Amino acid sequence: MNVRVVSALVLALLVAACGPLGDNDEDEVARDIELGEELYFQHCETCHGGETGGHIEDVPPPHNEHGHTWHHGDCQNLEMVMDGTSEVHEQMLIDQGIPEEDAVMPAFEGTLSEDEAMAILNFIKTWWTEEQREHQERITDDLC
Ligand code: HEC
Repeated sequence: MNVRVVSALVLALLVAACGPLGDNDEDEVARDIELGEELYFQHCETCHGGETGGHIEDVPPPHNEHGHTWHHGDCQNLEMVMDGTSEVHEQMLIDQGIPEEDAVMPAFEGTLSEDEAMAILNFIKTWWTEEQREHQERITDDLC
């Protein structure tokens, strides 16, 4: 895994824990990403695709560097995963010519905990370029 991602996540954990950084924290980050990977392929891949391919205008969009997940803050992405798309949003996509079965993002509330959803979002970050990760971190700091 990219060392910068690990460092950023370790730092986040460190701040959250307000304690000294030990080997256990790094293990915890690695386990979090591993869990995120497992859950991603279980719940998200069928609609959103994998690490490569896709286009920013695809619906549903890819979560890799070609998509726009990195344009949104953590709290916005988390909300989308837990609550899914609104009916208004779905209708807007259908009106744009998107087939109904591609226009719905299911709500994962009740299926995934917020920690599990964040683990998935942290796994997705390993697909982004360093610039994208830094950009998304700034948006998260501003909005969340
Ligand atoms: C049944 C298909 C489907 C599944 C399964 C699905 N999604 Fe989505 N997702 C969508 C659709 C449709 C949208 C709305 C796309 C749009 O507005 O252009 C969306 C939007 C999103 C967005 C906001 C758009 C973006 O990338 O910035 C995020 C984040 C997201 N999904 C994450 C997930 C995650 C994480 C999972 C697995 C836990 C998941 N989705 C599972 C269909 C799906």
